[in-house]
Parts: sequence; C-alpha cells; structure tokens
Amino acid sequence: MNYRHAYHAGNFADVLKHALLVRLLRSLQRKETGFVVVDTHAGRGFYDLRAAAEGDSGPRSPEWPYGIGRLWDRADAPEEVRDYLDLVRAFDRDKGNAAATPRFYPGSPRLARMVARPQDRLELWEKHPDECEALRREFGAERRLSIHGADGYGAIKACLPPAERRAVVLIDPPFEDKGEWEHVARAVGEGIRRFPGGTYAVWYPLTGRARDDGFIDALKAARTPSLSAELIVDPGAARMKGCGVVVVNPPWRLDDEARAILSYLGNVLYRGAGAQGDVRWIVSK
Ligand SMILES: C[S@@+](CC[C@H](N)C(=O)[O-])C[C@H]1O[C@@H](n2cnc3c(N)ncnc32)[C@H](O)[C@@H]1O
Repeated sequence: MNYRHAYHAGNFADVLKHALLVRLLRSLQRKETGFVVVDTHAGRGFYDLRAAAEGDSGPRSPEWPYGIGRLWDRADAPEEVRDYLDLVRAFDRDKGNAAATPRFYPGSPRLARMVARPQDRLELWEKHPDECEALRREFGAERRLSIHGADGYGAIKACLPPAERRAVVLIDPPFEDKGEWEHVARAVGEGIRRFPGGTYAVWYPLTGRARDDGFIDALKAARTPSLSAELIVDPGAARMKGCGVVVVNPPWRLDDEARAILSYLGNVLYRGAGAQGDVRWIVSK
C-alpha cells in the first residue's frame, strides 16, 4: 500500500469524482428520509496541497493546477458544478487560506459531511493506518459518522442493507494492484445482491489499456440500471488519459446532470486535442 492520495488531491480525477458525488447526494436529498454514505476507500478527509507539493523526499510537481486550479477563478460553471466548487472554496477559506490559489482540498468524506443533513449518516473505511489516523483526527467523535481502519471491501457485508433502506456506496480504490477490478466487480455484485436498491459509484482510471470490460459485462448481466461518466483529458497520454465513474442505480435525472458536468469539465480540464466528456447508459432504466 504505497499509494498516497495527497499527491493527487484536487487533480482532474478528484474534480470529476467529487462533482458527481455532490450531485448524487443532493439528488438523494430530494427525499426527506435519511441515507447512509459508505465510503470504502475514504482517504484522509482533507489535503494540504502545499505540503503535498513539498513531497516526502523532495518537491513533486502538483497535479491540482490541472484540476481544481483550472476551475478556481471561473465564474461560468453550470449549476451542477458550481455547487461542488462553492463547497471546495468554502472549505479552503474556512481552513484559513487567504491566498488567490487553493491550498486546502476536501476529500470525499469531508464533502459528504458538508452535504449531509442531520438524518444522513457516514460510514468511512480506510485501510492505511496513517490515513485512517488522519481521518480520525479530522472528524473526532461524531454521532452519525463511523470510521473503520480496515479493508473497505468489508463494508459491503458490514453496512448493507442499511437500517435506513437508502445508501450511496462510493468505491474509489487506488488501482495499484492488478486484481483491483476483480475486487470491485465482486463488491458491486455482492452489494447489488445484498441491497438491490442501493446506489453504487465506482471511480476508475482510463489508461492506455482498454477499460476492464469484464466489469461492464457483469453490470449488463445484472440488468441493474447503470451509467458511465467518462472524462478524457489527454487522449494521447501514455499513462492516464482520463477517468470515469460508473453509477449503478443512478437517481432520477443524474444522467442529464452528469452530462452537464462532463460537457463543462471536458472543455475546462483538457490537456490535449480531443479531450471530451461522455455519459452513457450501460443498462438503461
Ligand atoms: C483514491 S484514494 C481515496 C480518495 C478519497 N475517496 C477521496 O475521493 O477523497 C484511495 C484510498 O484507499 C486507501 N486504500 C487502499 N486499499 C484499501 C482497502 N483495501 N480498503 C480501504 N482503503 C484502502 C488508500 O490508503 C487511499 O487512501
């Protein structure tokens, strides 16, 4: 487990994932009943972009200037992106940054916590001891928030089905290991079996290699409504050309909202000719 999200925090992948996450949570909040957010790979909760650029053993080129940095001063974001952007700006300001560029970037647990209503609940899983410790420091003891220092795939069994009968499960692994797709496919399959009505969001990288179509085929076979939102920022990139989020059981209108997000981000986060965002139904409703 060498992965440290701090080096990637606020990059284009975080922007896509977090803008969609905020939208997803807001959509579920159209109903009064509370729900649980299960974050299987939570990270540390927030990131100091300046400290990350200093690195552990020397300076590292930061990724955020090509992500949140590109959006920071813009006033033309559509409503679906503006909500996320306002949350990130407010968080940065509240942490004490008065500079013109972002410094403190919230991770998925903090964004979910910012959006959560009193009736919503958070289950945060983080396996890396240092990251988990930072997560505990960030949140302390909160009644409607639990932190688990354990393998996040265990959350599927431990948290589903939830008492509220409503859940969003975010699966955001580092994809360091070759077997990650298998873990993801198994987790989503098991999640759908245990709690068919849940919403499952899976982040994945788009590398030079083909996307793992085994996962997509399994979703088709499960016949559960699902869509993919993919953002390609640099089609010619040797390593990561973009990333995507699959949403199983997307809430009403998320397809249109995701299209607005992807179309805007495709224009703003481009790094090479042919950059684009695309939303497709894998299994339509
Ligand atoms: C991509 S980062 C998460 C970022 C976070 N979800 C966000 O959006 O702000 C992946 C995290 O998963 C953690 N991790 C790796 N393997 C794990 C596992 N099996 N279970 C739980 N956490 C794991 C890593 O330590 C890392 O913090």
